[in-house]
Amino acid sequence: MGDQIRFKIALLGLGTVGSGVLQTLQNRSDDLLNRFGWEIDIRHILVRNLQKDRGFPTDHLPMTTDVNRVLDDPDLDLVVEVMGGIEPAKTLIQSSIRKGCHIVTANKELMAKYGKELLHLANEHGVKIYYEASVAGGIPILHTLQQYLQVNRIRSIRGIINGTCNYILTQMSNHGKEYEEALREAQKKGYAEADPSSDVDGFDAVYKLAILSANAFGLDVDVNQIPRQGIRNIQGVDIRLAKELGYVVKLIGEAVREGADIKLRVGPQLLGWDHPFARVDDVWNAVSVESDVVGELTLIGHGAGQYPTASAVVEDMIAILKKMDTKDSKPFTIASEPMTQTSLSTPWFYIRCNDTSLDTLETVQKVLATHTQFLEWRILETRNDHGRFYSLGGVLFDPDGDLEGLENLLNDVCLRFMESTDTLVLSVYNPALVSRVPSNVFSQVVNF
Ligand SMILES: NC(=O)c1ccc[n+]([C@@H]2O[C@H](COP(=O)([O-])OP(=O)(O)OC[C@H]3O[C@@H](n4cnc5c(N)ncnc54)[C@H](OP(=O)(O)O)[C@@H]3O)[C@@H](O)[C@H]2O)c1
Repeated sequence: MGDQIRFKIALLGLGTVGSGVLQTLQNRSDDLLNRFGWEIDIRHILVRNLQKDRGFPTDHLPMTTDVNRVLDDPDLDLVVEVMGGIEPAKTLIQSSIRKGCHIVTANKELMAKYGKELLHLANEHGVKIYYEASVAGGIPILHTLQQYLQVNRIRSIRGIINGTCNYILTQMSNHGKEYEEALREAQKKGYAEADPSSDVDGFDAVYKLAILSANAFGLDVDVNQIPRQGIRNIQGVDIRLAKELGYVVKLIGEAVREGADIKLRVGPQLLGWDHPFARVDDVWNAVSVESDVVGELTLIGHGAGQYPTASAVVEDMIAILKKMDTKDSKPFTIASEPMTQTSLSTPWFYIRCNDTSLDTLETVQKVLATHTQFLEWRILETRNDHGRFYSLGGVLFDPDGDLEGLENLLNDVCLRFMESTDTLVLSVYNPALVSRVPSNVFSQVVNF
């Protein structure tokens, strides 16, 4: 084949994603040759530990622990970064861009914090950075936003964008597990790290929401300014109460446009059972975009894992290698008017309180109903070694969305009841957005 092209590539990282990328390239080498006339020449594979058992033969692979092998190679076309973390990934990407290499990365933390800077550098040097795998694994949401929704004005983008949290919440909801047990299981299955805080405290979802918002709204997002609430404090009883009320609990990242404000938030939400995300379970992800021309669009798929993520990385590689677009790299949408980032607040809250006495909870319920719109509630009876106790769970509506005022009221109620009984535990439970409220509730709100 006379017009065969040999592309020279460096793969930074051979862990979960890197191994999937390598094996996909190897398995598809005939297709790439026959279809495009390409040969992919992997010149370097950067790792930390050459001795590590990777579960497949590596003797013939160009593995190295020396970053200079990559930095000193003058002939590379493309660098694929799947190592994770900020450094040395950032410096390696910057040096590669300055040498004229295109970049594909799966690194959400890096793109959320330094994406703008790296894309600017890439533009200066006439190369591209593609990063589809950094959000929602195999779901092609960034390409959808960048290439297929160009005349659409996005009103909102929301999603289940952390598979680990979704797995834990699904185990709690569908199998009655407590948080700790569901987390241990996620760790055993490789869905959660030994230190799970990046996932369960919502940081990972914040990074992905930042990247989505940059692409959907042209917003320069400060990740530290996104209100963030994780799932660590959610207990089995909350999930059961939510179920009784007709909801399922999901960790949602969302960005909503109101004029020139983009309101952002990551946190657990109560979703009605008929919500399109309600049955997106386990490690599946879903992203829903609402825009003016196409209306609502929802993509559902594997949000993580070796091959779904490798699929996004390899498709990005192909998109770059095809040189479909010879213009400047502008994967972040440029906003037509200045946008500002604010916090998304809500008038809807979820509370739970526990007590051993049904009477006390019924009185609490009345007090709450007098001071707020305490719209729906259930009382669950539970038995354990210490006897019988009750949990009251409910949805509150505060038209001002005043969390502090609500907390003060609840503290007040709590203290008042603490005086009369020493058994009451009124946990002013972290507020959760209620994304869909039953129609009978809406009519109560309207009539209020
Ligand atoms: N896993 C997923 O499902 C998924 C989904 C979407 C996006 N991502 C993103 O993809 C990236 C990679 O994730 P992963 O799960 O594949 O991670 P991983 O399994 O921990 O693999 C990381 C790889 O990078 C190498 N590495 C890390 N630091 C290095 C350093 N300082 N010098 C040389 N090599 C280094 C490691 O070498 P050793 O093997 O020798 O330790 C390992 O091969 C991350 O940015 C992650 O956020 C992952």
